[in-house]
Amino acid sequence: MLLLSGPNIAGNEWKYVKECLDTGWVSSVGAFVTQFENMVAEFAGCKYGVATSNGTAALQIALQLAGVERNDYVIVPNVTFIASINSIKYTGADPILIDVDTKTWQMDLDVLEEFLQNETTEKNGDLVYRKDGRPIRSIMPVHVLGNICDMDRLINLAERYKLKIVEDSTESLGSYYKGKHTGGFGLMGCFSFNGNKIITTGGGGVIVTDDEELARKAKHLTTQAKSDPFEYVHDEIGYNFRLVNVLAAMGVAQMELLPSFIKRKKEIDALYKKELKGTGDICFQKVETDVDANCWLFTIMTEKQKDVLKVLNDNKMQSRPFWVPMNKLKMFKDDVYYNKDDKSDYIYQRCLSIPCSTYITDDEVREVAEKIRSVY
Ligand SMILES: Cc1ncc(COP(=O)(O)O)c(C=O)c1O
Repeated sequence: MLLLSGPNIAGNEWKYVKECLDTGWVSSVGAFVTQFENMVAEFAGCKYGVATSNGTAALQIALQLAGVERNDYVIVPNVTFIASINSIKYTGADPILIDVDTKTWQMDLDVLEEFLQNETTEKNGDLVYRKDGRPIRSIMPVHVLGNICDMDRLINLAERYKLKIVEDSTESLGSYYKGKHTGGFGLMGCFSFNGNKIITTGGGGVIVTDDEELARKAKHLTTQAKSDPFEYVHDEIGYNFRLVNVLAAMGVAQMELLPSFIKRKKEIDALYKKELKGTGDICFQKVETDVDANCWLFTIMTEKQKDVLKVLNDNKMQSRPFWVPMNKLKMFKDDVYYNKDDKSDYIYQRCLSIPCSTYITDDEVREVAEKIRSVY
């Protein structure tokens, strides 16, 4: 089976994990945790990193620290993995789902601007949703597939409307906008190290920020909010969201490999584009010139989505349709979905991701491409 995007354990993972096992430092404290946090923060160009048990937990904590509370709203794209929305719901807030752009597959900033202009107003210093007067506290851009929207414009809108930016940068380790890495554009950014990501710890996350106080609070909240080094005194209801040392050890080894993984993802992207260019109606995600994307998950767009999916999966080439748009999930059907003509559905009907693990060979990429061409 050719996996969609499998883990590539190719460096010092065994060595560092063995070190944990040999020394007994397997659990919630240990040198690898701090090392991993520092490596991810440094790579993302941020001052501080706080490791978490996964990316979803990272998002929840980042939102809470951005001041998101029960009854607030958070603006988020309608096409994303469910964890973005779940993290909002965990805080007691609700999402405002914004439709996405058919070319970049990111939040459509024209739609966003129209929403902010027409549907919001200011009340007692807060931006509120006109229909119910509830505060809109934050905006969560999601760098879908490692691509990035026009961040200058998004930041400008966020500043104008006093929205705090929390980046769902879970898929974008290795992606840059105008030379700046994702994660550092707002208050906090969150990475995921789930098994399918560009590097993995099996499961894990890191919150990055330039704000020392926020980093301290994130560490505090994710480690049960213990306020005394010896006594079991806790000063708020915290979480056990820490990343354990044995997984951080794996993360350190994977971070050492990250530059080579990014290089390989870009090669795979280029080879697929060469092989598939001009095939039927197939088109690719548009990446603007200001963006240097990590090419995390190669995805094509075609009317023949279902046929391509069948041929590839029949041939043990693992392929997946895009996420069901959030407004279509039963839990979120009553949430606000702002759109012009439901581009989310258009994308959902046409996009599919195809095998692009960093260890895939050029010949395997060509075989996948050949099977796809056979559909047209
Ligand atoms: C867009 C997006 N947001 C959030 C997450 C959640 O990350 P995790 O699986 O580490 O909780 C993921 C990845 O799984 C993701 O792709």
